[in-house]
Amino acid sequence: MHLATNTWYKAAMRIVTKISASGAVAALLISYAGSCGGDAPKETTGVQLFQANCAQCHMGDGAGSALAPPLHGKKSNWSRDTLVAYLKDPVGYAARDPRLKAQGGKYSLPMPTYKMLPQADLEKLADQVLAMP
Ligand code: HEC
Repeated sequence: MHLATNTWYKAAMRIVTKISASGAVAALLISYAGSCGGDAPKETTGVQLFQANCAQCHMGDGAGSALAPPLHGKKSNWSRDTLVAYLKDPVGYAARDPRLKAQGGKYSLPMPTYKMLPQADLEKLADQVLAMP
């Protein structure tokens, strides 16, 4: 009798081991699917970055306001690289640019720096400004 119980116990343990092993595999698959599945955050677009960082002064469409000049009709002054440099240090950049220097005096607040943003976001913002009419 004791022998029979022991055999039953061993068989039961084999099943339990199999179930928990497949459970672990399933848990791994679920966490893998979660980490690279459909709920991963979407990349921020230039439009979204502009709305979040710039629209409060330049307006959503870049038409300008009492706080900032229009960005329309300005793209002949800029390239992607010069815009990224400007966004990192607008006041320093404007000090070396006579047109910006003269324009800056008309506004009560300086153009803020965006040097804390990742390079990729600065490039998207530059492209966004260059896309304005
Ligand atoms: C606090 C208000 C404010 C915010 C926010 C702001 N700006 Fe400005 N921006 C200004 C002011 C003021 C000037 C004029 C500075 C000058 O001419 O020296 C300016 C100038 C500029 C210029 C130069 C325009 C020209 O005449 O060529 C560009 C380009 C620009 N901003 C882009 C941006 C972008 C992109 C953002 C968001 C990442 C942004 N600005 C956020 C106030 C702001």
